[in-house]
Amino acid sequence: MFKILSIVGTRPNFVKIAPFIAELEKYKNFKSILVHTGQHYDFGMSESFFKDLSIPKPDYNLSVGSGSFAFQMSEIIKKMETVILKEKPDLIVVTGDVNSTLAGALIAKTSKILVAHIEAGLRSFDNRMIEEMNRILTDRISDFLFITEPSAKNNLLKEGIPNKKIFFVGDIMIDSLKGAESLIKSSNCDDYVVLTLHRPENVDDKNLFKEILEAVTEIQKKIKIIWPIHPRTNSRIKEFGFEYMVKNMKNIKLVSPLGYIDMLSLNKNAKFIMTDSGGIQEEATFFGVPCLTIRDNTERPVTVEVGTNIIAGTKKDRIIKEAYKILLGKIKKGKIPKYWDGKTAERIVKILNKNLIKR
Ligand code: UD1
Repeated sequence: MFKILSIVGTRPNFVKIAPFIAELEKYKNFKSILVHTGQHYDFGMSESFFKDLSIPKPDYNLSVGSGSFAFQMSEIIKKMETVILKEKPDLIVVTGDVNSTLAGALIAKTSKILVAHIEAGLRSFDNRMIEEMNRILTDRISDFLFITEPSAKNNLLKEGIPNKKIFFVGDIMIDSLKGAESLIKSSNCDDYVVLTLHRPENVDDKNLFKEILEAVTEIQKKIKIIWPIHPRTNSRIKEFGFEYMVKNMKNIKLVSPLGYIDMLSLNKNAKFIMTDSGGIQEEATFFGVPCLTIRDNTERPVTVEVGTNIIAGTKKDRIIKEAYKILLGKIKKGKIPKYWDGKTAERIVKILNKNLIKR
């Protein structure tokens, strides 16, 4: 019997862990333990995802909450040590690139426990992003690196990670998406755009955030925008005194963070999506919905090379230009990348089973 302890903390982690845990349940020789760090804690950011994705209640909730990098890392590591001493897992699984990911990988490694990283090898090459550091360091100390797209393999090999640790299994977020497909509402009226913004590089920078809002102001004059607003972004609007800009936009609708199924339904039926999220770039590619990424780079190049994603940058004129192109019918067509087929969790657990038995 192998004890596998999965660590989650934020919205995207929940989407990635759900299919993995469901797959583990099919194997008699695996016991699954789930730890929620509590990095995200509001109902709409956490519990609603557990409900929509049928994730079992966590065995441990570390209730770490919000705070600086130092605070979140130290609290998670300290509290995880107690859990590890008690549970003595054979393997710790982390997903994505958030603070809970790196903290989990660090405590696993220093406790001499094997680490598996789901969604390894992605690189934005933008060192301003904490996520980029989290990705690089987590990959450096992981024993199993499960990758979503070919670019990840090149990145990891260049960093000296041995080929035998790298497994191309596809995108586990698509497993969740396909699992929810029957619940996603279809609609013929694609007369709106979805906007999401939460990257500190965009919304914590007053000038840049203003520039993006100016672009949004222009675009909503042509088409309705629906904006599920992240708590960080909401705080910055108040702090920077941008409420007047939002109020002046007559054709934009701000809503609270949406649950998983509602967000998928909204995205699937949109005319296009404007976002700085990583996961949404992938979901847009799967749905074949055009996506304007409001960043200068992406760690998910397959969404641009194969999918519907366009890196629109953060400059007002360029964002408006790209949006108008879509409104004029110049729509980028895409395909679904390899292994984005809903069978990623199956592949991962098969690989773990084979390799853990061998050890
Ligand atoms: C985190 C991840 C980011 C990921 C995002 C997904 C890191 C460094 N960042 O960013 O990579 O894309 O999650 O959503 O790990 N807050 C609430 N309620 C909550 C959670 C947060 O109000 O349930 C507010 C707090 O004011 C908090 C702020 O949002 O300070 C930011 O939360 P935090 O977890 O630090 O980072 P995110 O911006 O959510």
